[in-house]
Amino acid sequence: MKMTNRELKEIIDLWNFKPEVKRKLSEIIDRAGEGKPAHLFRYYCPDKKKDKVSKLERNFASRFGSRYALAVNSGTSSLITALVACGIGPGDEVIVPAYTFFASASAIVVARAVPVIAEIDETLTIDPLDIEKKITPRTRAILPVHMRGLPCNMGAIMKISRKHGLKVIEDVAQAAGGTYRGKMLGTFGDAGCFSFDAYKIIASGEGGMLITDNEKTYIRAQSWHDTAACWRPNRYERERMPGELFCGENYRMSQIQGAIALVQLRRLGSYLSALKKRKNLLSEEIKNRPGTLSLAPVNDTAGDCSTGLILLADNGAEAKKKILELKKKGVPAGGIYDQTVRDWHIYKFWEHIIQKKTPTDEGCPFTCPHYKGGLPEYSQDMCTATLEILGRVVNINVEENWTSADIRKIASLVAGRR
Ligand SMILES: Cc1ncc(COP(=O)(O)O)c(C=O)c1O
Repeated sequence: MKMTNRELKEIIDLWNFKPEVKRKLSEIIDRAGEGKPAHLFRYYCPDKKKDKVSKLERNFASRFGSRYALAVNSGTSSLITALVACGIGPGDEVIVPAYTFFASASAIVVARAVPVIAEIDETLTIDPLDIEKKITPRTRAILPVHMRGLPCNMGAIMKISRKHGLKVIEDVAQAAGGTYRGKMLGTFGDAGCFSFDAYKIIASGEGGMLITDNEKTYIRAQSWHDTAACWRPNRYERERMPGELFCGENYRMSQIQGAIALVQLRRLGSYLSALKKRKNLLSEEIKNRPGTLSLAPVNDTAGDCSTGLILLADNGAEAKKKILELKKKGVPAGGIYDQTVRDWHIYKFWEHIIQKKTPTDEGCPFTCPHYKGGLPEYSQDMCTATLEILGRVVNINVEENWTSADIRKIASLVAGRR
């Protein structure tokens, strides 16, 4: 049953969308007459102006400076698609940080490769020194995650990748709009993967984007994300490059998600610059009032697009005490690692991977005959440096409505007395 205009308008009215979002959504509804179905499928749009997914892809590629952008239905599916498109699969290992949302690691398993978990450093991103230690003859890729909008050390990571001939797939789910040395995050490696889920900088409920400069990676990604329908100019074209055509999934984005993400993308610059202004002021104020907490190092402060300010205490007990004290005074402070709370962002709680659980008893990829060598020894205490660092974190959430006076007051509460 096709959706009518009236049904769609009813749905749109359910949410308190800004008028600009409502307008964009209305544009994709066929206004030719009540009862006519709206075209929500991302392909075959009869009216180019209503094809919001293609427009989102064009605008995203141009905003991020990549040759190709492919819209998908989640950040997780963008990671799986990137891995498959880069030719990673059975027998391969991919290095991923111990601190990231579980999806970064599970995407590797879904692509039938084996995740190798590396420590983070005090920047809360993957430690390049530990990447080098984790490389084996089976390593095919590094999957750095710009966690919390904090840029990874892309200089060091790209150097390692070149030295060892590894692919780099950046997880930019939490860092849309961030940069490293002036270059957009997501454009350093072979592919950049974004999430537009409800909690991300660009939020369309669900959704994601894959960017790349490589034509073959893009074509393979298109095939994987669309049940290998081969979306070249002519759908039924023969393979142009070997390994281009294979069975895939369905990770397509709908026109509704596209319309919302398009409006959010337009606001990205102004949102991030307002956030940066408040965060820079807060960190300057904290720097000027030495206290028991220090600002965590950032690989590139100018490119940081985190919505929080990360501070480090001398030890976990100090961090806990300070968080309680700040919370009591109304400061939006929080920790990251509390041993009593399960958190899918910390490897220690990734039971599925630690116990090598799989949907069937065959246990692929952990029992894959193509995997030659000893599997990584996963355990809850395999990345102790990561747990130690995360335990010392005091995060101050930078809020949109803070005035300069609020920020000064918060800085003085954060500094406290020595
Ligand atoms: C770092 C990271 N990677 C991947 C994902 C997965 O994104 P999605 O929820 O859109 O599948 C998330 C989502 O929270 C994330 O934070």
